[in-house]
Amino acid sequence: MSAGKIVVTGASGFLGRHLVPVLHNTYGKENVLSFSSRDYDLMDIRQTEKMVSETKPDVLIHLAALSGGISDNRERPADFYFKNTILTANVFETAARGGVKKMIYTMGGCSYPNKAVSPIGEDQMWNGFPNEISAGYACAKKMGIVAGDCYKKQYGMKTTILVPGNMYGEYDNYHLTASHVIPGLIRRFHEACLKKENTVTVWGSGKPERDFVYAGDVAAVFPFFIDNDNEFGPVNVSSGTNATIKELAEIIAELTGFMGKIEWDTSKPDGQKIKIFKVEKLRSLGLRCPTSIRDGLKKTIDWFAANYSKKGAVRL
Ligand SMILES: NC(=O)c1ccc[n+]([C@@H]2O[C@H](COP(=O)([O-])OP(=O)(O)OC[C@H]3O[C@@H](n4cnc5c(N)ncnc54)[C@H](OP(=O)(O)O)[C@@H]3O)[C@@H](O)[C@H]2O)c1
Repeated sequence: MSAGKIVVTGASGFLGRHLVPVLHNTYGKENVLSFSSRDYDLMDIRQTEKMVSETKPDVLIHLAALSGGISDNRERPADFYFKNTILTANVFETAARGGVKKMIYTMGGCSYPNKAVSPIGEDQMWNGFPNEISAGYACAKKMGIVAGDCYKKQYGMKTTILVPGNMYGEYDNYHLTASHVIPGLIRRFHEACLKKENTVTVWGSGKPERDFVYAGDVAAVFPFFIDNDNEFGPVNVSSGTNATIKELAEIIAELTGFMGKIEWDTSKPDGQKIKIFKVEKLRSLGLRCPTSIRDGLKKTIDWFAANYSKKGAVRL
C-alpha cells in the first residue's frame, strides 16, 4: 500500500516501538522514517524545520512527548507543561509550513475533564478542567486539538487525533516513580519473586475500575487513519473492557509466578472510582482493540521477564 513518505517522531518510545514494525510491514521499510531526540531535538524549532525539510513527509505521525506517571507529574508539572507545549507547537508549525498533508497526533485520556462521566466519550473533551495533578501535561497535549483546527484553517493540513486509553505492553516505562499502574505492578511482583518476598503491598483498596489497552492493538489501528483521506477529531483507542485494580494485581501476581500475599494499603488514595473510555466511535470505523487483558499481560510479562536482566533492554 502507498501512503507516500511516513515520518514518525518519538519512534524510540513505548508506542513508537510498537508502531514502527506495523508501518514497516504495511508500507515497506523504505517508506517509513523514524526518529528519536538523538536524530532531531524537536524542542529546537531549527532542528524541527530541518527534520521536515530533509524528510519531506506526506504523513507525519507525531508521538514525541514527555510522558510520565502521577508522582512525576506531581513533582515537575512545569517540565510536562513546557516540553509538551513546545513539542506540539514546533511540530505543527514546521509541518504546515513545510507542506505536510497529513498529521497524526496522539494524546492521553488524562486530557479529559476530571469530572468526565464514564464511559468517557469524545464529546466530553471540553466539558471541564483535567485532573489538577497532571493538568500541565494534559492541557499542553490538548492544544494539539486546537493546533489541528488552526493549521487546517490556515494551511489546509489535515490532522487526526488519537486518544489511546491506559496503554500497557512491551517497551513501556518500568521506572519506579515514572511508571503507570500496570508496568509498576509487573515490576514489583517480578522483583518480589526474585527476592523471594512473601508480601506485595499495593496502594489503595483495589476497587477502582479502569480500562486498559494493549499497545500492539493501538499501533494496529494507525494504518486505517493513514490510508483514510478524511481527518478524524479525537478518537478514543481503547479496549472498551474494564478491570478493577484488584483483578489486575491478581492476574499479574499469577502470571509472574508470585505465590505470596497481596496487601492493600487503604491509607493511600484510590483516585476516581471508575474511569473508562467509550469506544463506539472507534468501532463505528470498523476498528477494535481485541487483545484481552490476560493475553496482553501474558505477552508483556513474558517480554519483561526475558529482558529484565539485559542491560538497557527495559526502562527501569
Ligand atoms: N504511554 C501511555 O500510556 C500513553 C497513553 C495515551 C497517549 N500517549 C501518547 O502517546 C505518545 C507516545 O507516548 P509514549 O508513551 O510512547 O512516550 P515515551 O515512551 O515517553 O517516548 C517519548 C518519545 O518522545 C521522544 N522525545 C522526547 N523529547 C524529544 C525531543 N526533544 N525531540 C525529539 N524527540 C523527543 C523520545 O525520544 P528519546 O528516546 O530520544 O528520548 C521518545 O521517542 C505521546 O504523544 C503520549 O502523549 C501515551
